[in-house]
Amino acid sequence: MVFGGIGTVALAWYYGSPRFIEVGYRPEQPVPYSHKLHVGELGLDCRYCHVSVELSHEANIPPTQTCMNCHAAIKPNSEKLQLVRDSFENNTPIAWVRVHKLPDYAYFNHSVHIKAGVGCASCHGNVGEMDTVEVKAPLSMGWCLECHRDPQQHIRPKSEITNMTWEPPPNQAELVKDVMDTLNPPQDCFACHR
Ligand code: HEC
Ligand code: HEC
Ligand code: HEC
Ligand code: HEC
Ligand code: HEC
Repeated sequence: MVFGGIGTVALAWYYGSPRFIEVGYRPEQPVPYSHKLHVGELGLDCRYCHVSVELSHEANIPPTQTCMNCHAAIKPNSEKLQLVRDSFENNTPIAWVRVHKLPDYAYFNHSVHIKAGVGCASCHGNVGEMDTVEVKAPLSMGWCLECHRDPQQHIRPKSEITNMTWEPPPNQAELVKDVMDTLNPPQDCFACHR
């Protein structure tokens, strides 16, 4: 009886919780940090905080020090920043809630995509308009493959990688012709399941 009860609760919890890769998943964060304010209004580049995105497979979440570069002086008494100050003083990281997460058996690499000229907005949507980050693309296998079969409309100049409003120009096909010849987005199973 007891074990059955626990099992039922666990199952309901597992299937009832939103999957990380589900469109619209938008968990509350411990600190009300807003991309809309910091990116959309203040104009900070993604790489000021997500430093490793073009260097590594993973895009880092910034350490508290990055926030304190400004917030030691800006709004030093704000209640909304109390957790940030605590984190800094106690040297303990802020417990940000993960938003996007592929299953372990799928392999993804940020730097490869950035170097190929795929912008953040192609996969994350316009983050500069989000107060709280939300999943905008399904991150499913079908979605990955759809772009891998025909990435042409997603390849942009390197200078526009973090531009949230870039659109391909009418002569896109001609502009990216040479780059397209050098790209080889994989469709074989072992590329993403290694
Ligand atoms: C001032 C620092 C800062 C800047 C600039 C910034 N971010 Fe973030 N970003 C964060 C922090 C902190 C988090 C974790 C909290 C959250 O999810 O809101 C985060 C989370 C994210 C996430 C979700 C991560 C996950 O858990 O799946 C994405 C996607 C993201 N940022 C994309 C961007 C993009 C794209 C840009 C540029 C347009 C950008 N960020 C600019 C600080 C920043
Ligand atoms: C380049 C400077 C800069 C950096 C870096 C920065 N912020 Fe900010 N932040 C600001 C400015 C400017 C405001 C707006 C202050 C105002 O409303 O007068 C602000 C406002 C905020 C607010 C709202 C405060 C309130 O009382 O309304 C929060 C919360 C916040 N930032 C969190 C963060 C976090 C978390 C980080 C690190 C991931 C961070 N900020 C990094 C400049 C920065
Ligand atoms: C080709 C699609 C794609 C592009 C382009 C892309 N991302 Fe991601 N991003 C993802 C996927 C997929 C995940 C989940 C990765 C995982 O769970 O392993 C993710 C996760 C993240 C995370 C959470 C930490 C991590 O690495 O898992 C952050 C932060 C992030 N992206 C920021 C960015 C920023 C900033 C850019 C642009 C400079 C960007 N992403 C470009 C697909 C993309
Ligand atoms: C918007 C377009 C786009 C989306 C969406 C996309 N990719 Fe890619 N991907 C590319 C391009 C373009 C390349 C080719 C890079 C090259 O050849 O330099 C690539 C290359 C790769 C590679 C080979 C490089 C390496 O790291 O070994 C893997 C693996 C990969 N992608 C995984 C994924 C996965 C997993 C997803 C979905 C979660 C995904 N991609 C979504 C455009 C995309
Ligand atoms: C471009 C990257 C990519 C390629 C190529 C790819 N997959 Fe996947 N695959 C994924 C991602 C990402 C997921 C996780 C998506 C999800 O959980 O919905 C996945 C999930 C799966 C799953 C689990 C499905 C489920 O519903 O849980 C199976 C099985 C699978 N892939 C088999 C294959 C086989 C077989 C091939 C070769 C014909 C292949 N994949 C090629 C990215 C890829």
